[in-house]
Amino acid sequence: MAKLGHDVVAVDVDPAKIEQLAAGEAPFFEPGLPEVLGEALASGRIRFTTEMADVAGSQVHFLAVGTPQGPTGAADLRYVDAAMAALTPYVSAGEFVVGKSTVPVGTAARLGADLSAAVPGATLVWNPEFLREGFAVQDTISPDRFVYGVPEGADGERAVATLDEVYATALADGTPRLVMDLPTAELVKISANAFLATKISFINAMAEIAEVVGADVTALADAIGHDARIGRKFLNAGLGFGGGCLPKDIRAFQARADELGVGESLAFLADVDATNLRRRAHVVELAEELLGGVLAGKRVAVLGLAFKPNSDDVRDSPALDIAARLHELGATVAAYDPEAVVTARRLHPELEYAETAEEALTGADLVLVLTEWDEFRRLDPGAVASLVASPVVVDGRNCLDRDAWRAAGFTHRGMGR
Ligand code: UGA
Repeated sequence: MAKLGHDVVAVDVDPAKIEQLAAGEAPFFEPGLPEVLGEALASGRIRFTTEMADVAGSQVHFLAVGTPQGPTGAADLRYVDAAMAALTPYVSAGEFVVGKSTVPVGTAARLGADLSAAVPGATLVWNPEFLREGFAVQDTISPDRFVYGVPEGADGERAVATLDEVYATALADGTPRLVMDLPTAELVKISANAFLATKISFINAMAEIAEVVGADVTALADAIGHDARIGRKFLNAGLGFGGGCLPKDIRAFQARADELGVGESLAFLADVDATNLRRRAHVVELAEELLGGVLAGKRVAVLGLAFKPNSDDVRDSPALDIAARLHELGATVAAYDPEAVVTARRLHPELEYAETAEEALTGADLVLVLTEWDEFRRLDPGAVASLVASPVVVDGRNCLDRDAWRAAGFTHRGMGR
């Protein structure tokens, strides 16, 4: 927002995070974020604070707190509710609160009614976020679409005009902008993630079939992906989806549908989830098989811990989950990730972490490539062969040049190939 020319006050309840940001340090790994943060601070258009009172006088208040999975699978709204409660006393008539968080459908109407009751003339709108980790800066500055969920009437029209000013730069570049009611905007967000999760589980289900009949799921994805109605993106078979969004969003969506009495409509998402989790179990079983049925005493090199490349996020990461299960089953796991060792160690201090890929690979009885970082794609299989104890590799993301690894003497096992 500061880069786009707006004056920004950023509030968080975590003083350590605020201190880091104020010093120009990104609190997590995201390509391009340190640069954009430095630019924003240098422009003098952004400041970081833990004091909610500092937001008073802002025309637009973005609400962007997390909605993690609660114990029943439903979204935990306590951060949204706490942020709204803390913010409301500093909102004035004529101002807008703009929800960004992924929430159960119906939340915006509830928050909007509470806001209007507390601050007559203030308006709540929902403007969901579609950014991907690893591309967060690019996706924020030039998104592929804007969705405005607004109330009916004059307040809604003023909200549209205000958001158009906020996003003037991207709109001038032709970014589509769709205006709709609040529940539709909430649903757009969650249904987009449910669709993406379904697409990934679809191709992983095809991988399971391919494994049984000796077919190649990558060739299959390439071929069906040429059909523009299907499209090749998000058809990469492997370990399935993880992270802070897709897994918890499909569970929260099912929980909300159950509450609304339309659970059957989303019953298929339980299969999407189960197919996704089977991939992790499959790799653990494959590792066991390749190690002759005994994991105890074996050394396994795990390359990749983040839920996807170009991120240090290990929330619900298939890679970290597999590493932890192999350790539990008695293997000595030597894990390496270019960015996610610090975050992984916090969740699983029991694993052995290496500082380089070479260190993890040295003496390994089995190599698992579990996150498709470029660094792993570029590994020289000949050099790896000279480090390991036994040349066996599982390519959990189908990201290695299979022929090159086989030529270097490796037994190579991919996913669905
Ligand atoms: C996802 C959505 O893609 C964003 O549009 C959305 O804004 C975001 O959630 C959110 O709700 O905040 P993200 O979690 O960053 O973004 O990651 P994705 O790129 O969607 O990848 C999710 C997982 O699916 C990763 O573990 C990735 O490895 C896996 N994946 C992705 C596959 O297994 N196969 C594929 O073909 C693509």
